[in-house]
Amino acid sequence: MGIWTDRVVPRLADRSLSTRPVMRLRRGAVAGLGGRVLEIGFGSGLNAGLYPPEVDQVDAVEPSDVGWEMSEARRAAATVPVERVGLDGQRLAAQDQTYDAVLSTFTLCTIPDATRALGEVRRVLRPGGALHFLEHGLSPDPGVGRWQRRLDPLQRLVAGGCELSRDVPTLVRAAGFDVLELESAYLPGPGAGRPWTWVSRGRAG
Ligand SMILES: C[S@@+](CC[C@H](N)C(=O)[O-])C[C@H]1O[C@@H](n2cnc3c(N)ncnc32)[C@H](O)[C@@H]1O
Repeated sequence: MGIWTDRVVPRLADRSLSTRPVMRLRRGAVAGLGGRVLEIGFGSGLNAGLYPPEVDQVDAVEPSDVGWEMSEARRAAATVPVERVGLDGQRLAAQDQTYDAVLSTFTLCTIPDATRALGEVRRVLRPGGALHFLEHGLSPDPGVGRWQRRLDPLQRLVAGGCELSRDVPTLVRAAGFDVLELESAYLPGPGAGRPWTWVSRGRAG
């Protein structure tokens, strides 16, 4: 840990993940959520103002106290009660089949064992429930993918454990989900940013 990871990374994440194109994608990711929802890696609460009216309650899992404190105003303004129920998406306290839906945005890149977290998500989703995800990850362009793998050690160091080369849709399928919707594209920006900007929004059940 340390000051950089504890104090600076949550602020950098908040800044870089609240741009207009990313917020537009977030709206797509939360569409269709309803009932009791679990959000893993709640961060600074950038989705909190976007939950549809069909959502009754959001249970948040977030290890960073700084991120949680940063989210205070957004939680207070949200139309839905948000409660912090845990610190680690790899070990959820919830009983099996507790949630109607799970939301993960820019979190499966950072959770140390994403496969384990996805197993937990499957366990706590009720039958017919869905995982909504919005994640950056491995580009289908081999040249960009090579750069992502080269950059991973540095990225892990400066971005709180985040990796660029995780293939999230593949991880989701490997965890036993069917991917029911998937849209992937680069965010707008210069070509040199492509290792960071391949983003997939999907729904899996
Ligand atoms: C890049 S930030 C994204 C935050 C937020 N999901 C968003 O969309 O803005 C990654 C988040 O994953 C969280 N995280 C890291 N390890 C985690 C774990 N084991 N379980 C749950 N969340 C974790 C971090 O604390 C951080 O809030």
